[in-house]
This record gives sequence, C-alpha cells and structure tokens, in this order.
Amino acid sequence: MRSPSQPDLALLAFAREAKNNAYAPYSDFRVGAAVYASGEIFQGVNVENAAYGSSLCAERGALMAAVAAGCTQIDAVAVVGDSESPTVPCGACRQALAEFNPSMRVIIGGRRDEVLVFGLDELLPEAFVRGYLDQDD
Ligand code: THU
Repeated sequence: MRSPSQPDLALLAFAREAKNNAYAPYSDFRVGAAVYASGEIFQGVNVENAAYGSSLCAERGALMAAVAAGCTQIDAVAVVGDSESPTVPCGACRQALAEFNPSMRVIIGGRRDEVLVFGLDELLPEAFVRGYLDQDD
C-alpha cells in the first residue's frame, strides 16, 4: 500500500463527484469511478438493471468511456463507494483494468475520509494478460 499523492486525491474527487449519478435502485450501493487515461479524466458510475446480471460496475463504465475516446494509456483509477471503509474494486473490474496496465495506481475511498492507494498488481497478482495468448504455439 502507498500514501495518496495530490493527483491521487484530485482523481478521487472526480470519482466522488461521479457517485452522485450512480444508478443503483436495487442494491442502494452507489459507486463512482474515475480513470486517468492518456492525460484525460473519464468518470463512470454503477448502472444497475432489473435483469441484475446486466448491471455494470462504475470502474468498468469509466474504463469503457476512456477506451471509446481512444485513451488507452491508463495510469490510475479512483473508486468511491457507499461503504464505510474504502470500496475495493471487484474481481471482474480488476481483470478488465489489468488489460490496459497491470500495475496502474488504484485509489479508493468510502464514506469516511480514509483513502488507500494500491498498485493493481497488489490487488490482482499474476493477472491473465494478452502475453499468455501468444504462448499457444
Ligand atoms: N460495484 C461497483 O460499481 N464497483 C465495485 O467495485 C463494487 C461493486 C457495484 C455493483 C453493484 O451495482 C453495487 O455496487 C453492489 O454490488
């Protein structure tokens, strides 16, 4: 774990702001995310669905927005959820993020002031990345 830098806290503020737009009528657990990608910031929120499995996490929403804009050099992701302690990204989001940078900074917050900073490689060691697909011959 690392200590938050000023840019980390700035990115976290974008995630916290995004959380206001979370659509979470089923879980009532709101999450906002922000990724810093190719020098730009993209926000995402969790978007739930009456068909529960069609819901999407905030982190993947922000990631998809960055990639759709052509910004794939991702240095950091920030996440703020409704939990008391900082909200960690789920396993599926860790894997989705690792595709673009397995060691990006992950800054997380919750309802209190506590902020934690990890490397994605600490949260998802030995990620399955594209290099494995080249080892099939
Ligand atoms: N959720 C996220 O958006 N990100 C996470 O890292 C954890 C969980 C969402 C999914 C669902 O809409 C709600 O939080 C409760 O699981």
